[in-house]
Amino acid sequence: MEQNNAVTLEKIASLSKRRGFVYPTSEIYGGLTSSYDYGPLGAELLRNIRNLWWHEMITTREDMVGIDSQILLHPETWVASGHVTAFNDPLVEDKVTHKRYRADHLIEQWLDKHPEVEKFQVDGMGLDEIGAYIEEHHVTTPEGNEVFPPKAFNIMFQTAIGVVEGEKMPVYLRGETAQGIFTNFNNIVNSTRIQLPFGVGQIGKSFRNEITTGQFIFRTLEFEQAEIEYFFDPDKTEWEPLFKSWQESMYHFVNETLGINADKLRWRRHSDQERSFYSKDTYDLEYEFPFGFKELWGIAYRTNYDLQQHIDHSGKDLSYQDPQDHQHKFVPHVIEPAVGVNRLLLMALCDAYWEDVENKRVVMRFKPNLAPYKAAVFPLVKNKPEIIEKARGVYDMLAAKMGVVWDDRGNIGKRYFYQDEIGTPFCITVDYQTLEDNTVTVRERDSMAQERVSLDDLTAKLLSEIEK
Ligand code: GAP
Repeated sequence: MEQNNAVTLEKIASLSKRRGFVYPTSEIYGGLTSSYDYGPLGAELLRNIRNLWWHEMITTREDMVGIDSQILLHPETWVASGHVTAFNDPLVEDKVTHKRYRADHLIEQWLDKHPEVEKFQVDGMGLDEIGAYIEEHHVTTPEGNEVFPPKAFNIMFQTAIGVVEGEKMPVYLRGETAQGIFTNFNNIVNSTRIQLPFGVGQIGKSFRNEITTGQFIFRTLEFEQAEIEYFFDPDKTEWEPLFKSWQESMYHFVNETLGINADKLRWRRHSDQERSFYSKDTYDLEYEFPFGFKELWGIAYRTNYDLQQHIDHSGKDLSYQDPQDHQHKFVPHVIEPAVGVNRLLLMALCDAYWEDVENKRVVMRFKPNLAPYKAAVFPLVKNKPEIIEKARGVYDMLAAKMGVVWDDRGNIGKRYFYQDEIGTPFCITVDYQTLEDNTVTVRERDSMAQERVSLDDLTAKLLSEIEK
């Protein structure tokens, strides 16, 4: 079967809205820039992604624990982390339309169309160098217009604690979940039995005043991150094999657990220029979205930079005392795999989308563990109380074990069409024969194959398919 044919972002956005995966935020007021809400199906899909991530990265690993820190942290956190001073994205403004673009994204997009021009990495470059490159190569906006020289722009969202004007304390909505892990390092070590090497994971909202917009949910102002800080002693654990094993865990999660097509995945190593100065190595796991290969999940060896910064700014000792060797006290190093949950969701939507031309249907071929509903229950007809009652019983039996949806609208063909479009792997029809022999028709989404299954075996059969 041909996979992922003719997928475009427009088709994904349209299906998402039509079927209830993703809606534009505040649509009745004309929307809000780069902001989206998740509908009934999107909320289920997000929850499945989060749960699978947590299960694989935390629950099933004895060297991992999870936390849930605040969105509002002490403002000094962001001075220590460098976000207040360094989270400055250089911006450029279109001289004609006055639309603003992040300089790195503008240059990247422009270079895609001008492969003959020497590449340039904006990260780590000063405003003057970026400006000089733009001028020398006549980089223009997608509208073909020149831009003003780049300016720095801080993408942290600021708000305030307190209600009395003049006494308000400025704080930031967190720009990443990672800092809540670093600031709790001592608490975690002191309150658990865990010893190095160990990791701490967290899933939660982050906020960035992003400038580049327009790629649906790829980059939004408010988004959810699933981040891990894996702490280790660099004298006892070699960082390279550890880094590699985390790369393998990331790839396994995307390719095996979420069932994403390997042809659409690749690793990209950051160049020396692009890498943060404290990072020894950084890779991005990229997915080929309809607008090209883009970062899905980053992994960086951040050394002991973050903990050391918090030691310097808080004056608190965040070093680790080796329980086996009391002479050995040190600031642990970290490897950080960090991914956006919404970006995983966008990837899942793009990867699942399939136009089955032969059968004139659109199918979201989610791996069953990812599908918003695992099964749909159909009573064959609406006017036969015995069939409705029997189907209700089947619904209740399955709903106790998995996400299931009831559908009695329209003919069976229309119901299949709808369930295919939302990616429900199994449709169960309760009909006249069910009343006689206690069997139902189970129709599989991708192959459209149908079989009769006894109600005694149905739950176990579906569960085994879902857990594959
Ligand atoms: N603590 C490291 C960190 O935050 P990052 O590369 O800035 O690194 C990690 O973010 C991941 O979070 C990215 O790989 C991406 O999946 C996701 N992400 C970042 N900014 C985002 C945004 N504005 N909208 C959606 N996802 C975003």
